[in-house]
Formats: sequence, C-alpha cells, structure tokens
Amino acid sequence: MVAKNIAVLILAAGKGTRMKSSLPKPLHSVCGFPILAHILKAAQALNPAAIGVVIGHGAEQVKEVVSANLSAWGITAPVDFFVQTDLSGSASAVKAALPFLQKHKTVMILNGDTPLLKPQTLQEMAQQFEAQKAGSLVLGVDVPNPFGYGRIVRDSKGQFEKIVEQSDADTATQKITEINSGMYVFDSASLQKALTQLKPQGPKKEFYLTDTLSIIKKSGLPAIVFTSNDFEQALGVNSRGQLAEVFQIMRARINQFHMDNGVTLINPQDTYIDAGVKIGADTTIASGCYLLGNTQIGANCTLESSVYINDSKIADNVTLKLGTYIEESEVAETCQLGPYAHLRPKSVLCKGAKVGNFSEIKKAVIGEGSKVNHLSYIGDTQMGAGVNVGAGTITCNYDGVHKHQTVIEDHVFIGSNVNFVAPVTVHEYAKIGAGSTVTKEVSANGLAIARSRQVVLENKGAKKND
Ligand code: UD1
Ligand code: CA
Repeated sequence: MVAKNIAVLILAAGKGTRMKSSLPKPLHSVCGFPILAHILKAAQALNPAAIGVVIGHGAEQVKEVVSANLSAWGITAPVDFFVQTDLSGSASAVKAALPFLQKHKTVMILNGDTPLLKPQTLQEMAQQFEAQKAGSLVLGVDVPNPFGYGRIVRDSKGQFEKIVEQSDADTATQKITEINSGMYVFDSASLQKALTQLKPQGPKKEFYLTDTLSIIKKSGLPAIVFTSNDFEQALGVNSRGQLAEVFQIMRARINQFHMDNGVTLINPQDTYIDAGVKIGADTTIASGCYLLGNTQIGANCTLESSVYINDSKIADNVTLKLGTYIEESEVAETCQLGPYAHLRPKSVLCKGAKVGNFSEIKKAVIGEGSKVNHLSYIGDTQMGAGVNVGAGTITCNYDGVHKHQTVIEDHVFIGSNVNFVAPVTVHEYAKIGAGSTVTKEVSANGLAIARSRQVVLENKGAKKND
C-alpha cells in the first residue's frame, strides 16, 4: 500500500461531445457504477492523502452524484472538487486544481474516462516513480488500434521524448501503437512550473497536459514511461461504441471473478452481473440473467434463464425459475419462484415460501412455507405462515385514492379466484370458498363464502328450444 504520500487528481470536466448525451460522461454507467466511481475506487485503493476531482461540464450534477455516494463507493480519503470553467484542455483542467497541486508533493493524475484501470497498476506506477526519483511518469500501453489516442514518441535511445495527439500526428507517428493511457504521476512542483510554459495546440487550440511531460524532461528530471501489456485497462470511453466495449470487458472480468469463487455460469457471454453484486458458491446461473445494483445471492441457488434481479437479497438454496423478476425485495432460504413470478419493491418471502406462475407480489410479506402458486396479485399484504392461496386470488388494495392492507393470518386456506377488498383481516385457520369476494373480517377457523348461490333455469341454455 502506498501510504498517504500521494494525492490523486481526476480530470472529469470535459464535454464528452462524442457521447452525444445529456448525461455528463463521468456519470455514464458501466456494470452498475458511474465511470467516475470506478476511477474513484481505484484511487481510493492507493490510500491517498486526498482525492481531487476536476469538474466542469455538468459540474453540479457530477458533484451531487459523487458527494451522495462516497460512502457507498467506499471512498474514505478526503475528496475536493475543483471547477474548470474554460474547458480548454486537460492541462487547463489541472490548472483549475492548482491549490491541490500546491498542497501535495506527488500527484497522480487520472483521466476521468478510463473505468478499467487497475489499482495494482496504479500502485506499481507510484512505486516506480518513487524508486526512480522521477519528475513525471506516464503509463504507456501497446494497443491493437491506437487511433484516437496520444502516441508515445521515444528518442533514439528508447527513452521518452514526447506525446503526440492523434490530430497532430504525421503518418509515421500514427503508426506508433504505444499510447498514452491518460494515467500519470508527477512531481508537483515540476508540473506546476511546466503548466506555465504551455502553448495552445491542435485544431481546437487546447492546452495539453501531455506537453508537460516533455517540458519536465527538458528540465532534467527523469520522465519515464511505465509500460504494461494489459492494454484493456487503458481503454478510454469517448463514444457509445467504446462504452459498450468497456462494458463488455468489465462484465467478463466480473463473471470470471464469480466463476473463480465457485459460481457456475452456464453461458458467461450472456450473463449480466453488476460490479456490486455478491453471489455464494455452488449457485448456478443460466443464460440471459441480469443481476443488478446492490444484489446479494446466497449459496447453492438455481437461477434458470432470464431471471432479472435488482437491489435484492436472496438467501441460500433458493430456486428462481424461468423469467422471474425481482425488484428491491428479500427472499429467504429454500423459497421457490416462477416461472414468471414478479416481486415488486418491498416484498419479503419467508423461508420456504413459493410464488409461482404469473403471480405478482408488491409490498407484502409472504409467511414461512406459504404458497401463491398461480395467477395472483398480492399487494400491501401481511400473510402468515402455511397459507395456501388459490389460483387467481387478488387483493383489491386500491380504492382509487388510498392503498389498504390485507391481513391473512397463519394457515388460512384460500380457494381459487378470491378477491380480498382491503382493508380486511382473515384470522388463522379460516377457509375462504372459491370465487368469494371478501369484504368483512373472517374469524379464526371460520369458513367464509361470499358469492351468490347458483341458480339453474331449465331450458334456458345454449340449445335452441322451440
Ligand atoms: C487524452 C490524452 C491522450 C490519451 C487519452 C487517453 C490529452 C491532451 N490527451 O486524450 O494523449 O491517449 O486521453 O484516454 O490529454 N478534460 C477536462 N477538461 C478539459 C478537457 C478534458 O477535465 O478541458 C478531461 C476529460 O473529462 C477526460 C480527460 O480530461 O476525462 C481526457 O480528455 P479527453 O477529451 O477524453 O482526451 P482524449 O482525446 O481522450
Ligand atoms: Ca478520453
């Protein structure tokens, strides 16, 4: 761990024009976290003295999201924001954070659009910088397609000479495949000095941070290139195409992590697991599943195809059959859901409960071992243990203005096609006849039948009588 002697500055003020989005680029999500969150987490892993974030385009929105989520993302280092108003290039972004540079002797600078960066590499960069007593260090990687990146130009001795941006590169330079990853370490005093010597560059007359490296080199301090052959970590997100590419790589990394921890993925190419999801060993996940947000899945669970889970907690030994959809809910051990079951927010299934085909549960507790197996809607309901809900049972929880509660106590037996007009309570061991519309309290162990008596009129049937 590089303890407390380095500060990290993240540049996230750019317009992100090529994203063609109203959402600021740092807030675009990759596997459940904004791009900027991935970078903040990697920075935090260095245990830095402080983290600075330069914001500009969409500054208020970016600041709000970051500030609100710092603890959720595990960021404990102090975070300072600096607003860049002119948006005239990466060096101008750094200038906007001058007070930050003045406070810290060694500063790591990271572009705010490379979410695949690895803490391990950042640590190695910091160590190399220290060991070589360098003025600047840049992470250089060989990429299969260098188009769009700044190229690292080396001198005849193979030492760093300069970085040339795509728009300024001649044909020979364009052939260089070693690119600037946008991750650097600087001696802060040298950087501050170099920043005063920059000239606007390129078609947009921008101030390039990359130019400071050759200035530092000329000043006599070592300007070193730290190389890594893991090129994926340097991929920047500038367009939706690159966003998809980065998403794909991170998803593969996450899936590999879970497989390494004993989770079976039937078809990893078609399994979507967000970075914050936890899964127990011996759980099997079939094709087309989405496990999103702050979701936890226990051990030894079975998820059939096309299961969607968001922000939910699933305990051990749970079976989720085809097409189950779970939002912000809790499912206790040995429950079974689906095919095609839907848990809407704030649903709680107690141990061994079953929710089957085309049943929807909303803001309801389904007690231990209770069954809602066929074609039901159970909303705003408190259901006890051992309840059997017949096919087509509906809680009528909404009177057009307010939502009302249905209470179904332990061991109630409900026939098919029953309506509960809430608010209503059914006490333990009661039985409800099929087709009933229950509007009044049902006493314990009572039998409620609330439907009209059958009448049969002779010769009024389908057959024509003359
Ligand atoms: C930059 C590098 C390039 C490198 C590539 C790696 C420069 C001049 N070029 O190019 O050598 O190969 O990253 O991904 O730095 N930003 C600001 N304020 C600005 C402009 C940019 O904060 O005025 C931030 C952006 O939000 C972004 C980062 O700086 O996070 C890089 O800017 P971007 O426009 O994406 O630079 P690239 O063209 O990708
Ligand atoms: Ca970029």
